[in-house]
Amino acid sequence: MQDVIEALEARREKARMGGGAARIAKQHEKGKLTARERVALLLDEGSFEETDMFVEHRSHDFGMEENRIPGDGVVTGHGTINGRLVYVFSKDFTVFGGSLSKAQSEKIVKVQKMAVQNGAPVIGIFDVGGARIQEGVDSLAGYADIFMENVLSSGVIPQISVIMGPCAGGDVYSPALTDFIFMVKDTSYMYVTGPDVVKTVTNEEVTHETLGGASVHAVKSGVVDGAFENDIEALTQMRRLVDFLPGSNREDAPQRPTFDTIERSDASLDTLIPDNPNTPYDMKELIEKTVDEGDFFEISPAFGGNIICGFGRMEGSTVGVVANQPMTLAGVLDIDASRKAARFVRFCDCFNIPIVTFVDVPGFMPGTKQEYGGLIKHGAKLLFAYAEATVPKVTVITRKAYGGAYDVMSSKHLRGDVNYAWPTAEIAVMGAKGAVEIIFRKDLGDAEKIAEHTKSYEDNFANPYVAAKKGYIDDIIMPHSTRRRVAKALRTLRGKEMSNPWKKHDNIPL
Ligand code: HXC
Repeated sequence: MQDVIEALEARREKARMGGGAARIAKQHEKGKLTARERVALLLDEGSFEETDMFVEHRSHDFGMEENRIPGDGVVTGHGTINGRLVYVFSKDFTVFGGSLSKAQSEKIVKVQKMAVQNGAPVIGIFDVGGARIQEGVDSLAGYADIFMENVLSSGVIPQISVIMGPCAGGDVYSPALTDFIFMVKDTSYMYVTGPDVVKTVTNEEVTHETLGGASVHAVKSGVVDGAFENDIEALTQMRRLVDFLPGSNREDAPQRPTFDTIERSDASLDTLIPDNPNTPYDMKELIEKTVDEGDFFEISPAFGGNIICGFGRMEGSTVGVVANQPMTLAGVLDIDASRKAARFVRFCDCFNIPIVTFVDVPGFMPGTKQEYGGLIKHGAKLLFAYAEATVPKVTVITRKAYGGAYDVMSSKHLRGDVNYAWPTAEIAVMGAKGAVEIIFRKDLGDAEKIAEHTKSYEDNFANPYVAAKKGYIDDIIMPHSTRRRVAKALRTLRGKEMSNPWKKHDNIPL
């Protein structure tokens, strides 16, 4: 009996060593952790239960039958994060560069299916050179099997991808189908085709970083939702993110004890809005002063900075916050901001997370760059996302809510449940200057008359009272009481029931 047990332990030890000590050392030299070290850091200590550690590839081409490594380049299983179940797969770059074989894909699909069945998030960690070249079409079939599960799981369980090394070719599309992608700065890159192919096809000279590093995807393309300094920070932040999320669409957002009373008022908010309507202020201050203990997990902070999206809690319960940021491009809605927020709103709606929206928006971004880029379609995404969302929606307009952007930003007209405005709100078709220049064009040469018209427009339109008189705003609230008013509104919405007409699925503008 003892020798059988020892034989098992020896087999396990072999699997744990992956591609061997030399390749592990190389991994560490690059500043990266190994697949197993990452899983250990991500999950609660001792909670990881590994599955399929003895799986090997079945390839006989290119001498592969002589080269089998148990586990076959991916570590899979489940564990807990702060006591809550999650499923993981972590690509092992030390084994055939983590490349995808058919056997490896079967391991990943098994984890994906179990996660859906048991209602728990899946976290995929990528450090991989793409398709297992020796396996040809079998590898492509494996990718498609994973993609299929990604698609079927979408909206059922949260799916998170963390890129911690190369992620090329077939490996980019599974992350792209998941809810959130994060990267590690300097050591990770993501692209469909690498620098050599780019040079051949387009004659462009690019490095891994300039083609697909975090500086590209977290800032310019918006493909990823955040970038971290190193593996440890990334994994610690994933633990923090998972704490905000339900295990599946069958659950409500998780509840966490808090000592932060909703009676906490904040007098400093009464002076947050500057006297000059064109002077920016930091909307993040309002968010952090509203949510429990100021704890806010921001999504895509470096992309589309004119809109802020992220998770916080009210009375211990997760909320998604969407807010225009006057500090960047005056908080205007452009292509990037619309896409970013639309996806976030849809995530919240999938997973029963109430949405709190803070509005200070001068409108949609004008210009050929935006129109040629399809602003109409992209702006419509955000409108669509808010309109179809049936989760509780609470809106606070702090300052500008102009034009179409007023409608889009969770207005009453798109089934906003509770819509508040600060007394500083200006809810109108446009700002006073623009409005006067259009409707009093004939007086443009007369500064006195223009000043008179502007004053009259401001008095009559640039305030929250016109909208409040019509019931489009439920109340005009004191800025210092925002936390209490939002929390109380959310309380009333706990029993909200709303559904959309039956359909196979909608046809959101893509
Ligand atoms: C098999 C691979 C591999 C692959 C790397 N390895 N990629 N084995 N299939 N795709 C192996 C290497 O042979 C090597 O084995 C080990 O992994 C480490 O690789 P290195 O090249 O030494 O590492 P590094 O210098 O860090 O370079 C990393 C890399 C490079 C940039 C990712 O390995 C690379 O370019 N790989 C190929 C990328 C690629 O073209 N993949 C196919 C994409 S097409 P040893 O034994 O020496 O340690 C694709 C289509 C799918 O994915 C589409 C589906 C929709």
